[in-house]
Amino acid sequence: MLRSIVLGIGSYLPARMVTNDELAQTVDTSDEWIRERTGITRRYFAAEGETTSDLAVAAAMRAIEDAGIEPASIDLVLVATSTPDNTFPATATAVQRKLGLPVGVAFDIQAVCAGFAYALSVADAMLVTGRVRRALVIGAETFSRILDFGDRSTCVLFGDGAGAMILSAVEASGRVTDRGVLATALGADGRQYDHLYVDGGVSATRTVGVLRMNGREVFRHAVQRLSEAAIEVVAKAGLRLADVDYLIPHQANRRIIEAVGKRLDLSADHVVMTVDQHANTSAASIPLALDVAVKDGRISQGDLLVLNAMGGGFTWGATLLRW
Ligand code: UT7
Repeated sequence: MLRSIVLGIGSYLPARMVTNDELAQTVDTSDEWIRERTGITRRYFAAEGETTSDLAVAAAMRAIEDAGIEPASIDLVLVATSTPDNTFPATATAVQRKLGLPVGVAFDIQAVCAGFAYALSVADAMLVTGRVRRALVIGAETFSRILDFGDRSTCVLFGDGAGAMILSAVEASGRVTDRGVLATALGADGRQYDHLYVDGGVSATRTVGVLRMNGREVFRHAVQRLSEAAIEVVAKAGLRLADVDYLIPHQANRRIIEAVGKRLDLSADHVVMTVDQHANTSAASIPLALDVAVKDGRISQGDLLVLNAMGGGFTWGATLLRW
């Protein structure tokens, strides 16, 4: 059978760092409140004219270098984003063009903060069925463009960034000791549409709109869905949570991540936390966090990882991956 294995990973944060103190100069907030309620200390904002595809390309180039592959071998480009360069074409085709990739399959996936989990699942399905051989999967966002800086309950929480992975289909034994994607789980509940949304859009208002969130409801559902998705994906592979070396959760709020770790009975040293360093970057947050933990040497070949995320819709998902 075929498995999708990760050949390389890379990430990118824009040059401009914005500290809590800097935000507090124009927003009615404080470094103390943001740290205490969210764990966030800083975020990065894309420069004027720097688009989601620019961030995606920067992360992709690092992933390609890390994988040591010929870019021309990539026949699938997936970009998980809710902040595309343009309404269409897909940001994935802009990435394809900027990287000079040959003709292949390229499209965007819109599942907000769960976008990378959705994209990994779609890429895995296409790889293991032989439809494509090598995938570039990216989570990239410029959420700074859809923030209402008059709303302190949301504008302090998000930042811009990108993370990318190269996956390839390889022959494997079919056992849980294989490297690569072992299981995926996805879910969505449209009844929760109004808790986290953007108040504009092509068809509804012909505008872009800004992010609106019922923070407390999102918090409550996030802890539940993130935990359930992790449990589901581990059970699908016939493994136990105790087998997991690292949980790489969506990076939205330190308190959410701690609550999920507690529910899954995983101690803090088995949970990767980077939200302090870049705030919530939506679809980019899982590959950003994973890249940090790989590059600092925490994660090594053979480790069992659970990646899980939850976002607007609500949408959620998890991937069980042996590194
Ligand atoms: O990827 C999924 C997307 N989003 C999330 O996962 C976010 C989920 N939600 C959260 O992380 C939290 O609900 C928040 C961080 C958004 C809010 O934390 P909270 O502990 O639930 O605070 P709260 O909404 O209950 O607000 C507490 C107080 C309020 O004041 P009063 O009404 O108690 O006087 C807010 O007005 O904190 C106030 N507040 C702030 N104060 C200073 C809200 N935002 C700020 C702020 N600075 N930035």
